[in-house]
Amino acid sequence: MAGHKKIDEVTGVETTGHVWDGDLCELNKPLPKWWLYVFYACCVWAFGYWMVYPAWPTLTGYTQGYFGYSQRAAVTAEINAAKAAQDTYRQAIANTPITEVKGKEDLLQFALAGGAAAFGDNCSGCHGRGAQGAVGYPNLNDDDWIWGGTLEQIEGTIAHGIRNGADEARNSAMPRFGLDGVLEPAAISDVANYVRSISGAEQVDTVAAERGKATYAEQCAACHGEDAKGNLEMGAPNLSDAIWLYGNSQEAVTQSIVTGRGGAMPAWAPRLDPVTVKMLAVYVHSLGGGK
Ligand code: HEC
Ligand code: HEC
Repeated sequence: MAGHKKIDEVTGVETTGHVWDGDLCELNKPLPKWWLYVFYACCVWAFGYWMVYPAWPTLTGYTQGYFGYSQRAAVTAEINAAKAAQDTYRQAIANTPITEVKGKEDLLQFALAGGAAAFGDNCSGCHGRGAQGAVGYPNLNDDDWIWGGTLEQIEGTIAHGIRNGADEARNSAMPRFGLDGVLEPAAISDVANYVRSISGAEQVDTVAAERGKATYAEQCAACHGEDAKGNLEMGAPNLSDAIWLYGNSQEAVTQSIVTGRGGAMPAWAPRLDPVTVKMLAVYVHSLGGGK
């Protein structure tokens, strides 16, 4: 193996002096200097990093490093800062009467954003992502209200809910005219036609509607009104417009009269804090139909 350094004839490069099998020489090709320096610098950097930052697992935990840095602590600090900023607004909203929130631009923007977020989390399952509603679940974008569309009324509806058994909930019940045998099926069909005729529905049996008129005055006007414009106190919908909670086909209206429906909504005051309920009311009111 031993040999001596010489210049390789083919490549013109110096050999290391190592020779195998008599004439097989090793060329002397060291790593470039710049590469070595970068490598050494990396070693120093890595060592420094281990010293100051958390690095190595130990039996009971990990090396904390001189800086004591922790991503978890950093995130917690950021969240706390964001919460503190929110608290200022939430406190201000708590102290502002709901009707005055609108007049304060920064509070209004905060309430709308907070209300929209809470709506997505809690309400869209029933009322739809865009609050557009569905059969049995009212559209909250229009200016047609079953229980009232002022800020206070909306806040009350959200806080206590509807027909959920709680005392403060909005309660009322339309009689189950069919199920309880208050009206004969023929009378129900007539009054259904009458109700549909006043809202301009198509395919109304006008003769039947004429017969149903008297039944309406006797049985229905007390809640829905002589003019069928509804009654917010009773949660009795307006029957003279084109907006229907359960639909205005002959079948749907008949079903409403037979069963009385009785849609229910949970109370939110027990689930959400008062500021969130307030922000929800401001948000729902802003959707376009607030009074
Ligand atoms: C479990 C389904 C359900 C959920 C969840 C729900 N609602 Fe309702 N909501 C209803 C039903 C059903 C009605 C209609 C009840 C009736 O027939 O009067 C209603 C009615 C309302 C009304 C009254 C509309 C009017 O015309 O007077 C408002 C306002 C309202 N909901 C807001 C909300 C808000 C805000 C949330 C979320 C915090 C929410 N709802 C969550 C089912 C739900
Ligand atoms: C005691 C009050 C009361 C009386 C009396 C009453 N209703 Fe109702 N009616 C209501 C209430 C409350 C609702 C809403 C039910 C709900 O939201 O689930 C309603 C809902 C309806 C609906 C569904 C409306 C929609 O938008 O889909 C129809 C149709 C209707 N009533 C027709 C009648 C007719 C016809 C009579 C008379 C035969 C009558 N009601 C008598 C209280 C009453």
